[in-house]
Amino acid sequence: MSEEIADKIVRRIRAEGPLTVAAYMAMALHDPEGGYYASRGPIGAAGDFTTAPEISQVFGELIGLWCAELWDRAGRPDPVILAELGPGRGVLMSDLLRAAGTVPEFRRALRVFLVETSPVLRAEQERRLCQARPAWVRRVEELPDGPMLMVANEFLDALPIRQFVRGVGGWSERMVTVDPENHLVFVDGPESPVASLLVPGAMRHCAPGTIVEICPAALALAGALGSRLARQPGAALFIDFGYFPTAPGSTLRALQYHRPVSALAAPGTADLSAHADFAAFAEAARTAGAEIQGPIGQGRFLTALGAGLRLAALSARAEPAQRWSLEGGVRRLLDPGEMGDLFKAVALVSPGLASPAGFGLGIDPDEPARR
Ligand SMILES: C[S@@+](CC[C@H](N)C(=O)[O-])C[C@H]1O[C@@H](n2cnc3c(N)ncnc32)[C@H](O)[C@@H]1O
Repeated sequence: MSEEIADKIVRRIRAEGPLTVAAYMAMALHDPEGGYYASRGPIGAAGDFTTAPEISQVFGELIGLWCAELWDRAGRPDPVILAELGPGRGVLMSDLLRAAGTVPEFRRALRVFLVETSPVLRAEQERRLCQARPAWVRRVEELPDGPMLMVANEFLDALPIRQFVRGVGGWSERMVTVDPENHLVFVDGPESPVASLLVPGAMRHCAPGTIVEICPAALALAGALGSRLARQPGAALFIDFGYFPTAPGSTLRALQYHRPVSALAAPGTADLSAHADFAAFAEAARTAGAEIQGPIGQGRFLTALGAGLRLAALSARAEPAQRWSLEGGVRRLLDPGEMGDLFKAVALVSPGLASPAGFGLGIDPDEPARR
């Protein structure tokens, strides 16, 4: 564990008392000195986890065509903001822009904005995307006004969650504290009416021992985007691992060098994430004024956008070893047993704007509400 950040967390708990899981996640991920995203290059074989754009170029290319098609049907606004939340190493944006180049008027209309807090990843984005002359902001609220297309892959899962535990008489918040040996441990806070109020109504009567998660930052983001899209034309596409409908259970997890580790064992040196609650996210955006498309499983979404055709075109020009790797990558993205069902896509769209491509099929009715 990173001594600096672990010590800082322990000192804060000793001074202020136990931290919410969200406060712990925010420190472990974003502390400017020892936080995970402040100090590490987390993505890829040498990092802690890999993501869809890193697995196959087809992912970013299809999202680029999704954007181009929607732009065309929305009346070809020029200029149009193209914003990405949490762009990682810039691979998705790079593949997206290459595909956008097949529609030159679209490519010329784009003004690229990257919403990023990590200085390490921003440096990689600067290297990979310099030709696109992107502008960086730290928050969605800093994006300029105007027609906008937004994309975000594996952004929601990085946002801090709060956890609540059903006790015998009511709900309490799950907290992080320090045991006598100076280890970080979970502890249930006192049962309180406030904790009960924060638990979504449909789950308030779950059995004792049940854990429920909420993600206030995701709901605030959905609200901000929903009200923006109600006032200004545009659409925002989110792809992430998560569940639909809302369901109880702890999904907090930590990954270090591609292996699961305890969420409290390695603050600052392990990625922390939680599954996105697509139902809550969509409902918050709808309430704020956006129309919602999806969610739909990633496999069905990418298939509807033409993943098979794109793979065939790439394979036809590839050497046998390359073809094997191309096919393996796309299979991983689409296969329901791999990323095809657990990862889902949802789009927030301005009311009255054209419907985006790829959402015709909806969620597979046979898919269990998976965690
Ligand atoms: C799991 S990575 C996904 C990277 C990339 N989208 C991909 O698919 O490879 C999460 C990304 O979100 C960024 N991030 C996390 N929390 C953020 C926040 N609150 N504001 C802005 N960016 C954030 C991280 O620095 C990183 O770029």
